[in-house]
Formats: sequence, structure tokens, C-alpha cells
Amino acid sequence: MFKAARGTKDILPEEQKYWRYVERVASTLAHRSGFRRLDTPVFEDAGLFQRSVGTGTDIMDKEVYLFEDRGGDKLTLRPEGTAPVCRAYLEHGMHSLPQPVRLYYFCPVFRYDRPQAGRYRQHHQFGVEVLGDGDALVDAEVVQLAWSLMANLGLKDVSLVVNSIGDAQCRPGYIKELQAYYRGHFDKLCGDCKARLENNPLRLLDCKKPACQPLQESAPKSSEHLCEACRAHWEQFKGYMAALGISYSVDHKLVRGLDYYTRTVFEILPPVEGAQSTLLGGGRYDGLMEQLDGRPTPGVGFATGMERLILNLQRQEVAVPDEEKPKYMLAAMTPEAAQAGVRLAARIRERGAGVVMGGQGRSMRSQMRSANSMGVPYVVILGEDELKAGTVTVKDMASGEQRKVGEGEFLGGV
Ligand code: HAM
Repeated sequence: MFKAARGTKDILPEEQKYWRYVERVASTLAHRSGFRRLDTPVFEDAGLFQRSVGTGTDIMDKEVYLFEDRGGDKLTLRPEGTAPVCRAYLEHGMHSLPQPVRLYYFCPVFRYDRPQAGRYRQHHQFGVEVLGDGDALVDAEVVQLAWSLMANLGLKDVSLVVNSIGDAQCRPGYIKELQAYYRGHFDKLCGDCKARLENNPLRLLDCKKPACQPLQESAPKSSEHLCEACRAHWEQFKGYMAALGISYSVDHKLVRGLDYYTRTVFEILPPVEGAQSTLLGGGRYDGLMEQLDGRPTPGVGFATGMERLILNLQRQEVAVPDEEKPKYMLAAMTPEAAQAGVRLAARIRERGAGVVMGGQGRSMRSQMRSANSMGVPYVVILGEDELKAGTVTVKDMASGEQRKVGEGEFLGGV
């Protein structure tokens, strides 16, 4: 028997209420802050992510789903949502709209990761991007949206960490310092970090191997090596955060796993810690549009994993509204009644009410049992007597009360 591919999962009907809940809360908040939805294709030109996410990152080197289509084009299943949004901004000339442009998305994301709780090969993100405004006020606005998403979902005890990793001006100098520091401790590094020292030195700071952690504490801090412009931006950002009254901690080890970030980076962590637990991550990416051959356009955003949000909602036993159920079940007791029943059901639906068919040929008892387990509040019974009299019998499942009413009268009141 076939099973869902490793690292993917079906979202079963009983889980759907969590998905609809998160989508509703997230999109309501996004609209409230002036964001508009953008949907981009599941696959893109492979070059888009090589240029943006960056070769040398785990995502591009180990996790990306890369394939050639029948026409020989090299394509990639989207490993993240920011680069496609920037591509769409450029392709559709959104720089001619009033700036900044605020966009949000829900999309499946593909990474060939080692599957475990909260880590999938296909996961789903809700993300937002603000394009065309470099002011630190926008960074704070985006962080506030992320923070209010957690609160509005009802997630408790989450924590916010922030950092500034500088820009093209000051980062090279900082990286040199970082490399010099780590070269002095080369023997103590894990195998991966020995390679990172040359390929992706910032990631030395968030290696999860125990051997590498003590070194991280005393490593040079990016926020202490900022150029003047980045320092001013960082101070302004912290000023806006103070004005918002959102509590956060600065973590100099926070560098994020994608190459495009500049200045502000941030993450929201759940109360139960774990390497794969980050609920939400984002930051500023002021150089990305140029890497994609666009004119300089600053950007900042975040994305959050829907599966991880839902895992935490379930862990914290957050009450999520049930999906709407049909108000009626139509129980037809004879083949003739079934004919009249499908017609009646159609007319009930035309009037905007929900009705599910009870199942032709099944006993009254078994239809009642289904109605109960589905939580349908009323069963509409159509039998021989009702057909003759042009009536229906309506059973209220909560009280057990039954009453016979004319079909017309019943339809008038659905
Ligand atoms: P990211 O940190 O790679 O950032 O992913 C964002 C979120 O997606 C993570 O915080 C996590 O909740 C979820 N996630 C990532 N990988 C997996 C996985 N394998 N299984 C389940 N959930 C996962 C980005 O993708 C950036 N594009 C975010 C961004 C937007 N930065 C600026 N704008």
C-alpha cells in the first residue's frame, strides 16, 4: 500500500479547524495592517533561489528540490517564500505603486530535511513582506505583527529574540574578526563548523553541537561591529520596540539560515525548546532586490510554519472553534422517500442551510447514530406517512423532541 512520501503528511478533516483558524487569524491581522495577499507558483527558476537564499547555505546545498523539466529548464520547488515575492514585485513593476508595498502569503514550502516532530519535507508558511521602505519603523511594525499573531492565536509563553547582523558595509569586517576568533579554536570545532569557517562563517554562531557552544558565548558580536548607519538603524529599531512595549532579548548568536539578511533579524521561540522548534523567523534584506537584478529596494518580513503553530496550539490546548456543521441530516426511510429527500435537500441548500444525506437503505437507528456522531442538531425524517401527508418529521437531537410539520412550513423556517 502506498503511503504519503517521507516528511509529508495528509491534513485530515479533523485537523482542518486548526488550519482554518490560523489562516483566519493571520489574514485578518495582515489586512488590518494594510497587507494584501500574493500567491506565487510552487516552482520557480532554480537560479532565483541560488542568487537569493545563497549557495553555501544548508537549504541550497542539501535541502533544495531541484529538477529539470521535459523542456530542459532547471526548476526548484520553492524552499522559502521571500525570493518569489521579490521576483513578483520586480516582474509586475510594483515599484511604481505607493511604497512600501505590503504583501502576505500562505504557501507550501519544500526542503529535503531530516523529518521529525515539527520538521517536514513539505511544510506550509504564512509570511509577510514589506518592500520599499528601509526605515527601522517598518522592522518594528513587522515584529509587532508577528508578536500579535502569537497573542491573537492564543499561544502563551513564546519569546522574541532579535539581533542586528549589519550590512554589506560592516559585515565583511565583522566576519574577518569572527574567522580570526574561530581560527584560534579550530581544533575544538565540529567537522561541519570547520567547513563553515570558510563557506558560511556566520553559521558558526548557531551550531547546535555541544562542542561548539561554549565557543559561541565569547565569540565577537555582530551588533558590536556595526557601521554607523547600521548602528543608528539598530538603535532606532530598539527605540520603536521600547515604544511598543514588546519584551525581547538580544541574542548575538541569532544569524538565520539564509544569506539575504541585513541588519535586523528576529525569531519567536515556543516555551518548549528544541533545535527544530523556531515558530517564526524573519528579518531585513536590503540587498536582495539588487541580487535579483532589480533597483535597490529595501525589504523586511517574516514567515512562520503553520505545522509548528498548530503543534503548539495543540500542546497548549488552545480551544479552536469547530468548523461549521450541517444543520440537518435527511433520513429517508423508503426508496420513494429518498427521491423526495434528495429534492428536499437541494431546496434546503438553496435556502443557504446545510444538510447531509443520512444514507439510503440504512435503518433509522443507524442514521440517528451518524447524526449524533457528526453533531448534526436536527434530523429531518421522510417516511411513507410523511410523503402521503406532504409533511416532514423534524427531530431535535439535543432534546429528543419530534414534531411533524408541513414541508412548505419547514422550508420557510430553515
Ligand atoms: P525560515 O526560518 O527558513 O525563514 O522559515 C520560516 C519558518 O518556517 C520557521 O520559523 C519554521 O516555523 C518553519 N519551517 C522552516 N523549515 C521547516 C520544516 N522543515 N518543517 C516545518 N516547518 C519549517 C524563511 O523561510 C524566510 N523566508 C522568512 C522570511 C520572510 N524572512 C524575511 N521574510
